[in-house]
Amino acid sequence: MKEILISTRKMTKHYPAGEGKFTALKDITLDFGKGEFTGIVGPSGSGKTTLLNIIGSLDTQSEGEVIVLGRDISSLTTKESAALRSRDIGFIFQTYNLLPVYSVYENVEFPLLLLKMPEADRKKAVTEALEWVGLTAKIKSRPGQLSGGESQRVAIARAMVKKPHIILADEPTANLDTENSMNVLQTMQNLNRDMGTTFIFSTHDAKVIGFLQRKITLVDGMVASDEINGAAG
Ligand SMILES: Nc1ncnc2c1ncn2[C@@H]1O[C@H](COP(=O)(O)OP(=O)(O)O)[C@@H](O)[C@H]1O
Ligand SMILES: [Mg+2]
Repeated sequence: MKEILISTRKMTKHYPAGEGKFTALKDITLDFGKGEFTGIVGPSGSGKTTLLNIIGSLDTQSEGEVIVLGRDISSLTTKESAALRSRDIGFIFQTYNLLPVYSVYENVEFPLLLLKMPEADRKKAVTEALEWVGLTAKIKSRPGQLSGGESQRVAIARAMVKKPHIILADEPTANLDTENSMNVLQTMQNLNRDMGTTFIFSTHDAKVIGFLQRKITLVDGMVASDEINGAAG
């Protein structure tokens, strides 16, 4: 039995809407095992971002339980959830979210500064991460000088540099053309295979589906299917 890193039990999320509330996720019960490479698919508005934000402890559920790396995230203080994110979870966003005034090197180094890692260790980790994503030549560039595919690879380097247990990616290929999407997917898959990093990412990109080990489909905030290698699981 695989070690479970994330569990949700009957997890529901309501957002305030006018006088009442809107239910964005309803009764989500899922387990994510160590080393999985899982895609959350579903149409726009189906709750993919909300789900990733909650399991990444950027947001909290309204009802039900969410356990991340053995911790009940709704019981964490702001400081504890920030520590969980900075140590154990890497994030990749659709729009890269790089800091424009910093170099590629400084962007990738940033999470290590938050962890107060000594400089020599930071240098080694950043250099390795940029080698991993094939961007050693761009180390001094600023984000504005990069293509979309390169920017997303910097974001992957930034997410992996602290060697987190889990990387969460919200539509990482949505702004990329086919070639760059494949390159980004391949980089994520290599990391999963070679370092055992657990990936959970949302997508509604048909090109991505073939890469998935596990595909969870959300419809109207509910799990419509959960399939492993094309077979129902
Ligand atoms: N902060 C918010 N306040 C109110 N409604 C929200 C908020 N965030 C998302 N929603 C609503 O929740 C639903 C799911 O949104 P989201 O998780 O962003 O879906 P997806 O990522 O699949 O497109 C949508 O109907 C959206 O409008
Ligand atoms: Mg979304």
